[in-house]
Amino acid sequence: FFVYILQTNIYIYIMNLFLDCVKGLPVKRPPIWFMRQAGRYLSEYRDTRKKAGSFLNLCYNSNLATEVTLQPIDKFGFDAAILFADILLILDALGVNVQFVEGQGPLLDPVKSKKDINLLKTTEKIHDKLSPVYDTVKKLKQHLPKGVPLIGFAGAPWTLATYLINGRGEQGSLTAKKFIIANNPEFEEIIKLLTEATVEYILMQIKSGADVIKIFDSWAGALNADMVRSYSLNPIKTIVTEVKKQFPEIPFIVFPRSVNTIYSDFSEVKEFDVLAVDQFLDRKWIAENIQPKKVIQGNLDPLFLTQDKENLLSELKKVTEDFKKYPYVFNLGHGITPDARVENVTLVVDYIKELKL
Ligand code: CP3
Repeated sequence: FFVYILQTNIYIYIMNLFLDCVKGLPVKRPPIWFMRQAGRYLSEYRDTRKKAGSFLNLCYNSNLATEVTLQPIDKFGFDAAILFADILLILDALGVNVQFVEGQGPLLDPVKSKKDINLLKTTEKIHDKLSPVYDTVKKLKQHLPKGVPLIGFAGAPWTLATYLINGRGEQGSLTAKKFIIANNPEFEEIIKLLTEATVEYILMQIKSGADVIKIFDSWAGALNADMVRSYSLNPIKTIVTEVKKQFPEIPFIVFPRSVNTIYSDFSEVKEFDVLAVDQFLDRKWIAENIQPKKVIQGNLDPLFLTQDKENLLSELKKVTEDFKKYPYVFNLGHGITPDARVENVTLVVDYIKELKL
């Protein structure tokens, strides 16, 4: 009977490969999706973005955002979809002027002083601006193929704070780190405010239909170890704990990028379901120290998707061999880049779908 179920469509109604895996249940093969799977490497995405006029228009247009979320699902057959939006929208919703400048990335009006902080909107007000994002979630729940769960997401307070304090991304996040040391009460207030707003934002995504939530702490690796614990791990733990008080069954994927051996500390937090791992961490160390405690997701270096098939295949074999002892979610160590080759994405998805755990 069990074999029969696995071989038929009934499987997707009573079990789900991705949801089972993130909940730590045994699965027949690793589920696969990619960070930034909707993006500029796809001509379909570039066409829709042109139609939208700008990246922010695309994020705030729920019909077009639904369309681009579905593109990589239809084209490659990924096992999960990720809501199309951006981690910086919540800052826009808090009243910070956010712009995405072609070739430069995000630009914001920096928030540093007590006066700037007091000018930010209150947490309840964020929904005015973010309601199109919730509409996208609702539309996706109607249009996603059966059996493909939807991942909602938010930026972690620290990563959001780096953009808020510096007004743009910065290698090493030095401006924000100096701010921690020199203006600690203001910094603590910023983290507290972002933590509260993020809880609200995630709750609304879940109420709109998100099945799983991912928290991106992309710049966590810029922090020193004790700072990682205070300003990456702790705020994320608060967020997940608060949300789980209302929705205990919603799994969380946490991505503290490049935090090195502090991944161990994250693996001790019972509220976190999955830890996403970057491409820099040693896979043997992950397999020994993290996998026995947490389901992991990652860590193929996105660079291999820009290279020839042979190099990609040999790396793919290494990743799947090193992680095979426990169930894991196949993904990249960071977002897919605009120069990734489409045929390489097809190759990876097909390869993983043939795997057996
Ligand atoms: O497909 C998906 O993964 C869902 C959509 C998504 C985007 N951004 C779309 C996007 C998600 C989950 C994000 C998260 C995000 N945004 C992060 C965390 C993940 C990471 O990459 O570390 C961060 C740090 C941001 C902030 C951000 N957004 C930057 C720094 C940039 C500019 C740099 C770049 O890669 O272009 C963006 C723009 C952005 N966000 C694009 C997309 C598809 C490209 C915009 C375009 O079309 O020009």
